[in-house]
Amino acid sequence: MSLHDKTFLVTGAGSGIGRAVARQLFGAGARVVLVGRRAAALCETAEAAQDGQALVHPADIARPAAAARAVQAALECFGGMDGLVNNAGLARFGPLADADPSDLNAMLDVNLLGPVHLIRAALPPLRAGGGSVVNVSSVGGVLAMPDRAVYGASKAALNSLTRSLARELAPLVRVNAVLPGPVDTPMYDDLGLAPEQVARLRDDMVDSTPLGRFGTPEDIASWVCRLLDPEAAGWVTGALIPVDGGRTS
Ligand SMILES: NC(=O)c1ccc[n+]([C@@H]2O[C@H](COP(=O)([O-])OP(=O)(O)OC[C@H]3O[C@@H](n4cnc5c(N)ncnc54)[C@H](OP(=O)(O)O)[C@@H]3O)[C@@H](O)[C@H]2O)c1
Repeated sequence: MSLHDKTFLVTGAGSGIGRAVARQLFGAGARVVLVGRRAAALCETAEAAQDGQALVHPADIARPAAAARAVQAALECFGGMDGLVNNAGLARFGPLADADPSDLNAMLDVNLLGPVHLIRAALPPLRAGGGSVVNVSSVGGVLAMPDRAVYGASKAALNSLTRSLARELAPLVRVNAVLPGPVDTPMYDDLGLAPEQVARLRDDMVDSTPLGRFGTPEDIASWVCRLLDPEAAGWVTGALIPVDGGRTS
């Protein structure tokens, strides 16, 4: 991979898919700015880095001002930025009628507006170096999913953002998205559902996945890294790639 000596900013890097992306980037010899709200989780991810490869930058990407500060931190520490992985996400499942309005707003803030502000803030360095953006979306952005309507809508909007910005920012910056199917991560511990509902959901997810298992964070991370890599994906932009065990086939 031609990720060696490149600099990437990864949100949600303290757990799940984001941690796996950061680890694969470290393994490829890249430098990574690790963004998320929990500093301790980010530090744990950074343990996989060699000296000088990781910058821990705790931040809440739901706050618009956080984006410019995170990009500034990357530039000050590493002198440039070659790619942005918008992976942080929030999922609150349940019928719309029962939803807490603040959860609905938070899903749009984290899943859509955070990426918007980060891409905007990162444009100067990404344009300077011919960089790329990978958005971690969801199959929920293309499937009809009762009890997950606003989560799905936030990911559908992220898909739309990906395709439009791919054209708007070409030819200097590539913009792609990976659409995971069910992946075994801490996301399932924090859906706002009762434990028995989560257990039923997990069973349903596997039953509706042709390859018959949950994905691993590494299954998703390898596609994220491939899309970041100009040697592997230099002629790919505006792609929405399902990595979902066949769930959307
Ligand atoms: N797991 C799945 O089945 C699945 C399926 C499809 C798509 N996805 C998507 O994959 C992405 C990664 O999720 P995951 O499955 O790896 O779950 P996860 O382990 O819960 O990761 C979500 C990450 O987002 C970070 N985050 C949440 N709100 C944030 C905020 N306001 N500011 C900064 N960081 C924030 C969290 O860190 P802090 O709490 O420290 O902030 C956490 O590290 C998400 O976009 C999710 O929608 C997951």
